[in-house]
Amino acid sequence: MSDDNVLIEARDLSVHFPLRSKTIFGPPPVVKACEGVNLDIAKGSFFGLVGESGSGKTTLGRALFYAG
Ligand SMILES: Nc1ncnc2c1ncn2[C@@H]1O[C@H](COP(=O)(O)OP(=O)(O)O)[C@@H](O)[C@H]1O
Ligand SMILES: [Mg+2]
Repeated sequence: MSDDNVLIEARDLSVHFPLRSKTIFGPPPVVKACEGVNLDIAKGSFFGLVGESGSGKTTLGRALFYAG
C-alpha cells in the first residue's frame, strides 16, 4: 500500500495490563490483551475485526484510537 493511502498503520503493537500480585513470589501477573499486532488500514476502506470474546478487539481499537 502506498504511504499516502494509509489511514492507520500499526507495527508490533502490544497492550499489557498488569494485575495485582497475589503473592510476592515470581513475576507480577500480566494480561497480554494484544501482542505484536501489525496492520494497515487504507483510507476509504472498511476494516472488520473479528474474534471471540476476550480476544482483544476492544483493547486494540482503543489503542489505535488513542495512538492516533
Ligand atoms: N482494564 C483492563 N484490565 C485488565 N484486563 C483487561 C482490561 N481490559 C481488558 N482486559 C482483558 O484483556 C483481554 C481482552 O479484552 P477485550 O479487549 O475487552 O476483548 P474483546 O473486546 O475482544 O472481548 C481480556 O482478557 C480482558 O479481560
Ligand atoms: Mg469488546
